[in-house]
Amino acid sequence: MRKFDYTSPEIGPKVKKLIERDKKIMFGAHTRTQEIPLGVDYAKGARITDLDGKTYLDFGAGFAVVGTGHCHPEVIKAATEQMQKLIHISGCDFYYESQVELAEKLFEICPGDFEKRVYFGNSGVEGIAATLKIARHYTRRPRLISFLGAFHGRTFAGMTMSGSKKIQRAHFSPLIPEVTHIPYPYCFHCIFNETYPKCVRKEFDGLPMPYCLSYLTEVMFERLVDPEDVALILVEPIQGEGGYIIPPKEFLPALRKIADKFNILLAFDEIQCGMGRTGKWFACDHVNVIPDIIIIAKAIASGFPMSATVSRAELQDPEIDERAWQPGAHGSTFGGNPVIAAAAVASLKIIENGLIENAAEVGAFLKAGFIEIMDRHQIIGEVRGQGLMIGFELVKDKKTRGALPRVITNNGKNIKEVITGECFKRGLIVYGAGFNSIRISPPLIITKDDAAEALKIIDQVITFVESQLL
Ligand SMILES: Cc1ncc(COP(=O)(O)O)c(C=O)c1O
Repeated sequence: MRKFDYTSPEIGPKVKKLIERDKKIMFGAHTRTQEIPLGVDYAKGARITDLDGKTYLDFGAGFAVVGTGHCHPEVIKAATEQMQKLIHISGCDFYYESQVELAEKLFEICPGDFEKRVYFGNSGVEGIAATLKIARHYTRRPRLISFLGAFHGRTFAGMTMSGSKKIQRAHFSPLIPEVTHIPYPYCFHCIFNETYPKCVRKEFDGLPMPYCLSYLTEVMFERLVDPEDVALILVEPIQGEGGYIIPPKEFLPALRKIADKFNILLAFDEIQCGMGRTGKWFACDHVNVIPDIIIIAKAIASGFPMSATVSRAELQDPEIDERAWQPGAHGSTFGGNPVIAAAAVASLKIIENGLIENAAEVGAFLKAGFIEIMDRHQIIGEVRGQGLMIGFELVKDKKTRGALPRVITNNGKNIKEVITGECFKRGLIVYGAGFNSIRISPPLIITKDDAAEALKIIDQVITFVESQLL
């Protein structure tokens, strides 16, 4: 496979100036690339306009955050009205309407017909950190289980539970102790070399399970870890950063059964896959599996920062169960902020007013389009998708599923960089995911026309890149 000449997207003078100023002030660990040199002036719906007046179709939604689209007028209205009344008071210490209203609404949509409690934080990873604390406190057990390929955020809690890329952990040790990672069912590259559905030949307590889960029950629980020491299993119902990986339908039910058998808490990180993106409120709703704890963030408030850690009531309320965390054991100054809570209430209303159905319908149209593109091209090995959470995996060869070389251009770029860069040149924003995948996570408001426009661009880009490589 030959390397080819590729040039990064050109930028206009105003964006260029902004990037030059930014370079002198921003931390060096950010993941900006030359391939998406986006200097935003304003954004509306699914379109972003840069400082030089060029408009892009946004199929990234600020990393799956602006589900209702950029600057939705009803979100702005709700936030503005709240701002005129109260901006901050601290929701862990005092009372106000928008926080309570949001919690009540969330309890209606979160899976599980039982009493619930919520902790509001400011980012996804704070919801993850709270989940670890809830689980250890309630169970009085130390061990935490997570998955290879998982991404749960950047603090010590998030970083430890993630199993995504070594750069995210290098030189930060020691991490949180007592965490074990087990294989996620990434069937396209099964590390056991099994094939789904043939691999569903194991059972746990009479329930079929994919072979990879037997690593937990037959290897880990037999040789390494007493399940009675395990507080929590944390899992993304669809892996996001890992490459938009949808596990087989048997996976979450089997995990639920395993957790129940050993009184382990099961938490779903729905930070990226939740809030209607997959065509249901939550990805776990597709298989009707109910977690003990669900962590929601990103799209919850249409771009305002917030997370909600919703659980069975007894896990967070010591008046119900004394094993739950006690007053003072946790909290946040800004969590549940009045303005953000009002924006979240508005966002929930907008999403339930047709966006979930739209995600399912336009998502199916998009996925069919991607499959059609895949069938015509050698370098797309798999299209995975649920609603408007769609990923496609790039390969050297469909049959061997081998990865493309790490560097495919003469100036050192990899396949994800080239594809995102070529899309950007043509006015489309998409991001990479995992090692070799592209993720599609547009606002849930997109139309079939938007989808057709994006498909046309991606088809052109794949055709171009393939012609350079093969
Ligand atoms: C599945 C998942 N969990 C956790 C996080 C961390 O969220 P935040 O960046 O808001 O802390 C992310 C962010 O991308 C995510 O996708």
